Amino acid sequence: MVRVWDLPIRLFHWTLAGLIAFSWYSAEEQMLDWHLRSGMAILFLLTFRILWGFFGSSTARFSQFVKGPAGVLAYVKGKAESGLGHNPLGALSVIGLLGVVGLQTVLGLFAEDNDGLMAGPFSLKVSPDTAETLTDLHEALFNVLLALIVLHLAAIIYYAIRGKKLVGPMVTGKAKVEGDAATHEMQPGKPWVALACAAVAAAVTWLVWSVG
Ligand code: HEM
Repeated sequence: MVRVWDLPIRLFHWTLAGLIAFSWYSAEEQMLDWHLRSGMAILFLLTFRILWGFFGSSTARFSQFVKGPAGVLAYVKGKAESGLGHNPLGALSVIGLLGVVGLQTVLGLFAEDNDGLMAGPFSLKVSPDTAETLTDLHEALFNVLLALIVLHLAAIIYYAIRGKKLVGPMVTGKAKVEGDAATHEMQPGKPWVALACAAVAAAVTWLVWSVG
């Protein structure tokens, strides 16, 4: 057993999954003040994750798992080892999920509800027509996000059927790997760097909230 996911990645993942479910629920139930808070929390998480993708542990870094088309093809054809962390194909799903959640969050900043009582922090910075269009897009994009989440879960079930269990490692941080475990060890990020990333993410979130 070797470490594969650090604590920040695991906290990020499960909090994000919970907040997306809660965002959906609070929108359905018209609890728009809670929907707004949930969206701001997602903004914080995503900003943190992007920073951690540059300054965090080895398996969190985009440079380690994002591969070009040739890298993805080689992996699909079975010509490339996936190594520790996300495989080149899974990386596409990670980028898709992070990208769509990010776009969804930005659209939410400009959205407003029908009576204008509840509005994203930037909704008054654009014309009412633009705010309406962005609100429609915010609603429509949720279906795309839902499709990506279904695909994400289907991939996890597919790997489980083929005997590769992924959920346990995302909970405990540890995975069984073949070969020399020492050479597979994750290079952990520094705790003070994680705190600095969290502080920058909090500052960005606060700025977005207070400027709006
Ligand atoms: C709203 C729902 C969800 C979203 C938006 C989501 C998003 C993500 C993202 C962005 C990653 C990449 C982690 C990173 O490097 O930052 C990831 C990985 C992962 N997620 Fe989810 N997730 C969701 C639900 C779930 C659920 C319900 C499960 C388990 C049943 C799950 C299991 C996993 C696993 C096992 C990985 C690691 C995959 C690998 O080994 O490459 N996710 N997820």
